[in-house]
Amino acid sequence: MKNLNKLPTFANGCDSLLSKHLTDTVFAELKDKHTRNGFDLQQVINSGLINTDSSIGVYAGDKASYSTFSALFDPIIESYHGFKKTEQHQSNFNPNDLDAPNPDPENNYIISTRIRVARNLSALPLGSAISKRQRKIVERLIVVALNKLQGKLAGTYFPLQGMIEAERVKLVADHFLFKAGDRFLEAAGLNREWPEGRGIFHNDEKTFLVWVNEEDQLRMISMQMGGDIKAVFSRLSTAVAELETALRFSKSDHLGYITSCPSNLGTAMRASVHIKLPRLSKNMPEFEKIAKQYQLQIRGIHGEHSESQGSTYDISNRRRLGVTEVECVQVLHAGVLALINREKLF
Ligand code: ADP
Ligand code: ARG
Repeated sequence: MKNLNKLPTFANGCDSLLSKHLTDTVFAELKDKHTRNGFDLQQVINSGLINTDSSIGVYAGDKASYSTFSALFDPIIESYHGFKKTEQHQSNFNPNDLDAPNPDPENNYIISTRIRVARNLSALPLGSAISKRQRKIVERLIVVALNKLQGKLAGTYFPLQGMIEAERVKLVADHFLFKAGDRFLEAAGLNREWPEGRGIFHNDEKTFLVWVNEEDQLRMISMQMGGDIKAVFSRLSTAVAELETALRFSKSDHLGYITSCPSNLGTAMRASVHIKLPRLSKNMPEFEKIAKQYQLQIRGIHGEHSESQGSTYDISNRRRLGVTEVECVQVLHAGVLALINREKLF
């Protein structure tokens, strides 16, 4: 891709962190830089330039993108996670440290719980800068590791290429599989050669799943019906530890696990519940106020950039960097309790 020669302008109403932090000075410092994989500023910002409704607007092509383009990434990371460039990320994925009794034991509000973490292999570029051949290598390495899983985690890998369309559509509708054609990923170069090299692994019960070569090389997911957050967390902790013995994940002391999008750095964890709040959701300002107080994000039930249906929402932790895995989930637990308690008062 060609380097930009002048500071791009952003449409009126564009509110992305990119538009806020790509100043004249930052642009001048970064416009001629690229990483060893040839990833340049145009590629970092392309998704945010094309999709003016982006909330963030940038993607990394490799671990080095975060240092080469730090003049842009650092302020974006600080705005999103409240994490300063002088800080070090800390991890704690120990379920024994999590205090999260089911906030809805009678199943009145929580439909399902899902926790995912993103990972990428340290030896290869991230999806935006990867070649077709390298992507196939990533897929092969991951499938070999997945095939070693035992007991309840053992399962089958289903490549996207050759999958029966009706089966793919059902997996997406049932919340197990990623959608195709995401315009943010498309503009970031993350959909090149789609669907080659992409796929989904899952165990028989579909409580442990791994997405391969979507936005990140791995998205490891633990999910089940109801609100037993601790069981979901424990399963994920075990599975990630097992896979970490077979695969070397990209990480740094400062930023934790390295991901394509800066919003996922650190723990790379999004812990969510699908929750029915028929009364509180009629009072959006109050719903949003509680979510903000607990630093939770509200999404629709078909994931990011989807609308809610029938007063059911996807509620998840917003911060992933500068907080441990246990803290991400503890925050979700506290916020969900507060939402349920408020719903009960109507
Ligand atoms: P991600 O969490 O991987 O960043 P999305 O927001 O796009 O990505 O969600 C991916 C899929 O996971 C969507 O189909 C979404 O409905 C589903 N999902 C998210 N949270 C839950 C949950 N708590 N229960 C069931 N499905 C969920
Ligand atoms: N690039 C998109 C935006 O800026 C998505 C950002 C966060 N989500 C993600 N899947 N990385 O709005």
